[in-house]
This record gives sequence, structure tokens and C-alpha cells, in this order.
Amino acid sequence: MSHVMNTYARLPVAFTHGDGVWLHDESGKRYLDALSGIAVSTLGHNHPRLVRAISLQASRVLHTSNLYGIPLQDRLADRLAEVSGMDEVFFCNSGCEANEAAIKLARMYGHQKGVEVPTIVVMENAFHGRTMATLSATGNRKTQAGFEPLVSGFVRVPYKDIDALRNVAAHNHGVVAVMLEMIQGEGGINIADDDFQREVRALCDEMGWLMICDEVQCGLGRTGAWFGWQHANVRPDVMTLAKGLGSGVPIGACLTAGQAAGLFKPGNHGSTFGGNPLACAAGLETLDTIADDDLMANAVAVGDAIRSGLAEALAGVKGVVDIRGRGLMIGIELDRPCGALVTRGLDAGLLINVTAERVVRLLPPLIFSRDDAAALVDALAPLIIDFLSQ
Ligand SMILES: Cc1ncc(COP(=O)(O)O)c(C=O)c1O
Repeated sequence: MSHVMNTYARLPVAFTHGDGVWLHDESGKRYLDALSGIAVSTLGHNHPRLVRAISLQASRVLHTSNLYGIPLQDRLADRLAEVSGMDEVFFCNSGCEANEAAIKLARMYGHQKGVEVPTIVVMENAFHGRTMATLSATGNRKTQAGFEPLVSGFVRVPYKDIDALRNVAAHNHGVVAVMLEMIQGEGGINIADDDFQREVRALCDEMGWLMICDEVQCGLGRTGAWFGWQHANVRPDVMTLAKGLGSGVPIGACLTAGQAAGLFKPGNHGSTFGGNPLACAAGLETLDTIADDDLMANAVAVGDAIRSGLAEALAGVKGVVDIRGRGLMIGIELDRPCGALVTRGLDAGLLINVTAERVVRLLPPLIFSRDDAAALVDALAPLIIDFLSQ
């Protein structure tokens, strides 16, 4: 009997080492990684720059404490502020923690404005994490079931429905913020078009609400911009990051700008591990490598190649509903549940994921090349065709 708590239905494979876009299992078989540990391994596996940076840092000091100055944390905050235009950064260790910080910030913002019961508008099919507040914000009953009572203070509207948001604005006077993903990852690679993003920004300005962007999955270069909202030229008041920030070393961040900056004072929030020297060294090297190696332009080019390759290979195939995405965040929606494709992918030496039951999700490392894209399309298209023909 395993002593690991049974929270994951694990696939029957374990990896011993990685190398670029490849992972190798215990039997010596290799797999093309088109998932990056769910948008984490930005630089692929064993990237020489990242290995060097974290080895060097490990040989100096791993952890001190937020009780003391952490120069690497200052440098990473400066770098994040530079690429985002945001003002302040709070460091934590994961996406749900970053979102917890954002939710606390929004509530504090509301209280300071005299709102007694601050409410945050969240979206259907959203995913924000599995802590009590973030699972309450998440728009998926499966994530919430069994954990009631949920945290109060959220109202939900359909994604991409500006009229529903305006309706909330007209009737609910306790609203202090809107929280959304620019591309819903777990929800099925649903993209908030640029117009909707701008309309949300305008409504937040009009109502004095904070715009909170959860960029945990779609952020950090994956869509071809540092952040999803940069495509629409809007800037949120609060942004959350995690997953790809440390390229495998756990680190999360909650960034604020404008009226959301300066809300937290010493004692309001904290984290033992958050922003420790090792995590910040990984974050800095990840950001520098994305910039130095033009990995955002690569994400656009290779993402386009994957989508057009799949569109060609799957043209006319009955059961394929849609192929969509931005950069290296790609969904292939089928007309039926398709979880079985994940194991078939494994057999074929391919790491993919299925989310929202019917959407094959691809989140390759940003170092994916055009050849890797061609290999992915060549391996995946026949699996989908075969699956749909049964
Ligand atoms: C958009 C989004 N927010 C938050 C989270 C939660 O992140 P973590 O698992 O690091 O807590 C996820 C994880 O999938 C996510 O995709």
C-alpha cells in the first residue's frame, strides 16, 4: 500500500531524467513533453542556464527568511515590474497562494473604501486553486464538492459576458473586484478576446473595482507576450503568477499596481518560504532566458505551426469541434470525453493532457522548436483520428 495520499489518479509512468523537450522513464523510453508539467517547465528540462543558476545559488545559500533583506528578491521584483509595468510584488510558492493574496488584497481594498461585505466577481469555468478561498472562486463544482461551506464573498458570471458583468455592477453594491484568467486553462483553453479584456478594464475603472488577472497558467511568455493582458493593452490592478515563473522551482507572485499597491503593511500577509534566494535565482534566470533567447517570438511561431499543422492533419475529421489557442497554449476540442487519449499518448511517447473532459490541452515548453512541433503533430493527429473513428 502506498503511503502517498490518494489525491491524484496517477498515470503508470515515472520519469528518471529530462533533457530539453524530452523526459525519460525508468525503462529507458523517451517522451516528447507537450505539457511542461502543466505549464511549469518553461525552459524544458535540465536547461544549462537554469541548472547553472540554481546550482550556484544552492552553493551559496538556499534560504534565509523574509525577516531579512533578500537582494535576489529585490532583483526579481524589479525585473517583474519592468516587464509588467506593475508596482509591487509579494512572493509566495504557488498559484493558489498568489490568488489568496489577491483575494485578501481585494477585501482590504473594499474595507478601506467602507464596503462592509466586499464581493469579488468571478467567472464560470474559472480555476484559481484548491485552498478554501480559491476553490470557492473556482467555477467548477467538482473542485468544490465535499468542502462546503465555501468561502463567501464571490458572485459568478458567465465568462466573456460583459452584459452579465454590467448587470452585477447595476445591482450589487458590495463589489470590489473582478477576477479572471485571460485564457482559462483548466476550463478548456477559453480565450478572453481583446475587446472583452478592454471592456472589463473600462468597467473596473468606471466602478472603482480592482481588475485581478490570474496569469498563473497563461502568463510568462506562453501566449507570445509576457502576460495575456498585454495583447489587449490593458493593465490589471492585481496579477498573480506561479507555474512557469521558476521553470520547475516552486515560486508564486502577486503583483499590484496603482490603487492596489501599498495596501498591505507589515503583519497583513506573509510566507515562510516565499521568494527565498533559490526560488528567486530560478525566477530571474527564467525571465532572462525567455528574453535573451526570444522565447516569446518562438512561442508564437511554434504555436502557430502546431495549430496549423493540426488543422491540416485533422481537416474534415468528424468529431473535431475546434482547434484554438494563443502561442503555446493550445486546445483541441472534441465532441466527446477524450481522457483516454492521455494514456494513448503515453504509449506513443507523447505527454499531453485532457481538460474540461473534451479538450486536449497542449502546453509545451517555450523552447519547443518547429521540428518538435512537427513531431508533435505527426504523433498526435493519428491518435485523435483513431480515437474518433471508434
Ligand atoms: C489559472 C490558475 N490559477 C491558479 C492555479 C493554482 O495553482 P497551484 O496549483 O500552483 O496552486 C492554477 C493551477 O492549475 C491555474 O491554472
